[in-house]
Amino acid sequence: SRTHDFLQALPKCEHHLHIEGSLSPTLLFRLAATNNIALPSPAIDPAFASPAALSTRYEQFSSLDDFLHYYFIGMSVLLSSADFESLAYEYFCRAHADGVHHAEIFFDPQAHTSRGVAYDTVVKGLSAAQERARKDFSISSKLILCFLRHLPAGDAKQTFNAAQALGHFSDGTVAGIGLDSSEVGFPPELFREVYISAKDGGIRRTAHAGEEGDASYISGALDNCHVERIDHGIRVVEDDVLMKRIARNKTLVTMCPLSNVRLRCVQSVSELPVRTFLDEGVRFSVNSDDPAYFGGYILDNYCAVQEAFNLTFKEWKYIADGAIEGSWCDEERKSALL
Ligand code: ADE
Ligand code: ZN
Repeated sequence: SRTHDFLQALPKCEHHLHIEGSLSPTLLFRLAATNNIALPSPAIDPAFASPAALSTRYEQFSSLDDFLHYYFIGMSVLLSSADFESLAYEYFCRAHADGVHHAEIFFDPQAHTSRGVAYDTVVKGLSAAQERARKDFSISSKLILCFLRHLPAGDAKQTFNAAQALGHFSDGTVAGIGLDSSEVGFPPELFREVYISAKDGGIRRTAHAGEEGDASYISGALDNCHVERIDHGIRVVEDDVLMKRIARNKTLVTMCPLSNVRLRCVQSVSELPVRTFLDEGVRFSVNSDDPAYFGGYILDNYCAVQEAFNLTFKEWKYIADGAIEGSWCDEERKSALL
């Protein structure tokens, strides 16, 4: 249709994409076989009987934690730099087809170092894919190092120090830090210290907040961790003063519509605060989160929003411009994207 073509052609930025969440069931089974990684026995969890069975299970997540269980098992098949490179390059191919011009990609180093895969192995593979995407598709991209919030803050600090010791923040290999995994019970204040170190070092900061957690997780991330962006953030509508603050400060909210439905944060895309954000002047981008787990890449998410809200071309242009303005690329690249 005309609208689908318009949304496909619209130059898009993706800001909320966990690279480990782009691992498809097919690639997961293939890498498990080549890398000799034992998946759970289908006798214990029938979801692991086949890629098709796993895909079907992905349609029935009951919560963020139910999803995370599969997410951490899935990524256990990734071992070598080449594995991370092919995973990320496959994502870039799909993103290019969907009209993505700039991507800021999360990765979870602790989920790899904890099972004996070195931080540098992960980053080497991802960086190689970024370079190929730049050459082959003119896609610019950044890496955002995420801390797992269900682990102690000391582990996050160690991970931060390892990346800093390699010079990855100062040489641009990693653009900033984020915070993900189980939200409720693991408030952002716990990670205040590492975020202050990042701020002092001029390093960009974002955090998942207000996905399953209430609006206090969002104000906690702003006040304690000095984040410049809020990932998900849909529960900001529960605090009008906070929402007006986020609008006034042009803090980018990275919305993930299909993820929110699949993880039962909302019952349908139409419940998301898209209209409220447009009316209140909250800048936001539309993203896929973990596309291989949630049934859609970025364009599917744009189309789902369009289906639910019937936005005008002008409103879409406003959203796309906000996504560019909220990106962490330099002014020269922003001008080229606008
Ligand atoms: N890790 C990957 N996807 C996530 C999400 N939606 N929320 C928290 N942690 C995540
Ligand atoms: Zn996420």
